[in-house]
Amino acid sequence: MILKVARMGHPVLRRRADPVTPEDFASGWVAATVRNLFDTMAEYDGVGLAAPQVHLSKRLAVVEVPGGPGQGIPPTPMINPVVQPLTEREMEIWEGCLSVPGLIGLVPRPAAVRVDYLDIDGRPSHRVVQGFAAAAVQHECDHLDGVLYVDRIRDRATLMFTEEYQRHHLGRGRAADGDGVDGASPAEVADDSRDGIPG
Ligand code: NI
Repeated sequence: MILKVARMGHPVLRRRADPVTPEDFASGWVAATVRNLFDTMAEYDGVGLAAPQVHLSKRLAVVEVPGGPGQGIPPTPMINPVVQPLTEREMEIWEGCLSVPGLIGLVPRPAAVRVDYLDIDGRPSHRVVQGFAAAAVQHECDHLDGVLYVDRIRDRATLMFTEEYQRHHLGRGRAADGDGVDGASPAEVADDSRDGIPG
């Protein structure tokens, strides 16, 4: 089922979401919500979606990042996820958000993270991701703490309308630590040129 997406300004996006409980698994709520999150994410061409974005203040998000091994993430529900940086090295990635439609901005983040979470059956699982995939995971987990990517933009001049980004900035990604990164499509997290993101 495709759900309505909350936009910036709705209080649900600023709340710290509640943990998913064993009862949530047992009742079938987790499975149904994961399905709805994937349906909604696909409808809006996102690479991730968090439960608070569909007005559910629970620590649950889904990600699906196109790309091969080491770059993409297959469709993955993350329940009660915890993110841990694996490097002090920083990257800057152009990000957008379905809850902040029409805008895009350059966000500095740790370049590699480990995320621990429960899978859809409640089993502990984890994933190590870097580059764009790491940005997507961090972006979704931020939603569970009431944080939006716009909060993390360092240079506010990089917050812009997607149309202007495509006209004036596409393909002119800024360097972070000497690694050029830039983006394109204004999906949940803007993606595109993984060129320059260390593999
Ligand atoms: Ni978002």
